[in-house]
Amino acid sequence: MAELLLTGITQLVTPSPGPQRGAAMRKLTVLQDAALLMRDGMIAWVGSRQEAPAAAQIRDLGGVAVVPGLVDPHTHAVWAGDRLADFEARVEGVPYEEILARGGGIRSTMQATAKAGVEELAQLAHPRLAALLHSGATTIEVKSGYGLDFGAELRMLKAVRALQESLPATLLPTLLIHVPPTEGREAYVRAVCAELIPRVAREGLAEAVDVFCEREAFTVEETRLIFAAARFNGLPVKLHADQFNALGGTELACAVGALSVDHLEASGEAQIEALARCHTVATVLPGVTLHLGLRAAPARRLVDAGACVAVGTDLNPGSSPLFSAQLALALAVRLNGLTPAEALTACTVNAAAALGLRDRGALMAGQRADFLALHSPDWRDLAYTLGANPVRDVFVGGRNIKENGL
Ligand code: NIG
Ligand code: FE
Repeated sequence: MAELLLTGITQLVTPSPGPQRGAAMRKLTVLQDAALLMRDGMIAWVGSRQEAPAAAQIRDLGGVAVVPGLVDPHTHAVWAGDRLADFEARVEGVPYEEILARGGGIRSTMQATAKAGVEELAQLAHPRLAALLHSGATTIEVKSGYGLDFGAELRMLKAVRALQESLPATLLPTLLIHVPPTEGREAYVRAVCAELIPRVAREGLAEAVDVFCEREAFTVEETRLIFAAARFNGLPVKLHADQFNALGGTELACAVGALSVDHLEASGEAQIEALARCHTVATVLPGVTLHLGLRAAPARRLVDAGACVAVGTDLNPGSSPLFSAQLALALAVRLNGLTPAEALTACTVNAAAALGLRDRGALMAGQRADFLALHSPDWRDLAYTLGANPVRDVFVGGRNIKENGL
């Protein structure tokens, strides 16, 4: 691929590469009147326009801000059916957990997803992921977890692999062990460990294993067994924890070196302390706070305690129908108390770290050329805007996706 120098950048804004914790999350580099040189899908140079090296091609962006591509580290974008009846019931006062305990909620999505084949699942997920991409997400994690049986779990993961062919964003599939069967949960966990995880690892169908640790889902002890199997099969682990109850999942995830613990709405001092003292990323999901009316995860306190905080959409039909990574960033400022600078760090390098990636999220030579040109000359419009898309151009691996038919 030819090299290209981009000019006409009022502000080129970036966190430092790699995971950032505590006060370092607020430290952005803002270059005024900047230029960016990319070569073979990678960033080759960034700096002041005046000092830009000669390049084979030059393109003027016309005076707008450039930020790193967003990383959405937590989605459940593959599902069939809908949860519109749940939504109405919840609005009328039935709690999310009660709907799940009655066999609805996640379990109803599992019934619908079980009936769909790989191709149909991919077709259903395509517009959802395209919406995330247009909102600025250049890397997106996608979980399974709506499988009524192992066959359905594998179909969900295969749908993500198939979608990688038709979507330019990087898609990272995660095997999610979501809710246990109503009977025979011990045998189910044994089979997850002895059959499902080894098969997924062998066939390269997932990059990580996630568990939902909650009263209506898996216990801490069951989570420990599943984590052990994942690690034995060479897969890193992540955890849904402290969404409704702090059961000890966060502490377990920190102790075993999980990539991330996600949700954290019910986390207290002990969990904040644990996250501040380990390398596990604390991922907060403001879409859930908005949609379920739950209390917000304590991102402000986590940053102040020195933790590494990321933000995700948690795009899913039940708890977060949020189809915009930019809006997740903007909501994290309103609902979780992050500053715009912290939110940008949370949605870029820290979200990348939650997926075990260090090659993206910052605008520096050697990083992937994943970045966004905004409509505005001021990058803060990314965190400010609600309901319109402040992202004009999305570059993935150096290619502008809008010029390439998406
Ligand atoms: O991350 N909390 C558990 N799992 C998902 C919700 C899935 C659903 O409601 O369909 C979440 O919120
Ligand atoms: Fe989730």
